[in-house]
Amino acid sequence: MKILVVGSGGREHALVWKLRQSPRVTEIYCAPGNAGISGLATCVAIGATDIEALADFAQQKGVGLTVIGPEVPLSLGIVDYFEEKGLRVFGPRRNAATLEGSKVFMKDLLEKYHIPSAFYATFTDREEALGYVEKQSAPLVVKTDGLAAGKGVVVAQTIAEAKVAVNLFMKEKAFGEAGSRVVIEEFLCGEEASFLAFTDGETVLPLPTSQDHKAIFDGDKGPNTGGMGAYSPAPVVTEALHRQVMETVMLPTVKGLAAEGCPYKGVLYAGLMIDKGVVKVLEFNCRFGDPEAQPLLMRLRTDLVEVMEAVIDGRLSEISLEIDPRPTVCVVMAAGGYPGKYENGKVIHGLAKAGEHKDVVVFHAGTAWQGDAVVTNGGRVLGVTAIGDTVQDAIGKAYKATEEIGWEGCYYRKDIGRKALDRK
Ligand code: AMP
Ligand code: GLY
Repeated sequence: MKILVVGSGGREHALVWKLRQSPRVTEIYCAPGNAGISGLATCVAIGATDIEALADFAQQKGVGLTVIGPEVPLSLGIVDYFEEKGLRVFGPRRNAATLEGSKVFMKDLLEKYHIPSAFYATFTDREEALGYVEKQSAPLVVKTDGLAAGKGVVVAQTIAEAKVAVNLFMKEKAFGEAGSRVVIEEFLCGEEASFLAFTDGETVLPLPTSQDHKAIFDGDKGPNTGGMGAYSPAPVVTEALHRQVMETVMLPTVKGLAAEGCPYKGVLYAGLMIDKGVVKVLEFNCRFGDPEAQPLLMRLRTDLVEVMEAVIDGRLSEISLEIDPRPTVCVVMAAGGYPGKYENGKVIHGLAKAGEHKDVVVFHAGTAWQGDAVVTNGGRVLGVTAIGDTVQDAIGKAYKATEEIGWEGCYYRKDIGRKALDRK
């Protein structure tokens, strides 16, 4: 079977790497891909949101399964379009992807189906939003309704900061139409975890738990990023909490979406806040997490093509996931300046040496070929991912390989996985 993976980040490299292991796969294309992906798949110069060109390509090449990595094409309805053309595709349709594409839709759905989440109010009028903010106490969280590449959330420590955020989104229109509606919500304390599951709209088949490291600096300090590293499993999600998440979050959400006429097929990702044994939903994503996909797919032993086909055909109840019991850790190497301004085109050294390390895979996120050299081409550049007998072992292996690699301005956190150790 020929496969097309849509996207160009570390998540897509991990998907290509995992799909390559399936005995059913004869060829993999990736659009647009990156330098690392080009070693495993044929990269095609079509953008991830160029839906018609992607469908034409899949038809021309006789692609048997297209896997969508990022949220933007899902929100634009790439799955609906592919289905209309008779193409098999993994991911939720546009109406179900609204769960990530509109925070107002998501919050209203959670409220309607009594799924635990932060208190909130939504606004289309800036003056009303500012008036509401004045009556609250800080900290307070202000979010754009629509997608803003992870930048549409401000955790305001003061009322003044919350007002600045409202003005940034609604007056300055920093994220365009995405900010024409905002959600203002209660600040939740606790520890975050990522809970990802496959679902065919009925059966919910959870992947192992994982935890991202959103902040740029060690100790979770500084501004949020797309994610500076991840590990799996996340010991903060105990067995009892796992049951709680399935019963109070995942199953009711999937049921609720179906009842609303938006049956969900694909990977459903709940971003959770856990505090004193109580779970609340921070967000839903309609796709694999990045970087969570890297440590998760490294632990998955089951053939990913089999799972994805079962999702598409609505027979996920027939599948069980075989998971490597060993923990995995992914250290993200980023460009200096990220998540602010950074430069592309820096030559990356040490990739071959790092690649020789046992139990390590260097997933590429923002890289490109420049002649014979691999250069940086994005804020998050690499995700060095290791599997070990213990979390400590996996951390050690990941950092040893990371230390082989460098470029001008390269930056990474030194404490990925430490929270898992502290908990033991
Ligand atoms: P979101 O995209 O909604 O998950 O928000 C991105 C990040 O902002 C989350 O991973 C949290 O770190 C933080 N965040 C969002 N909502 C809240 C909240 N209600 N309370 C505390 N932190 C939040
Ligand atoms: N790691 C966070 C995300 O994928 O949205």
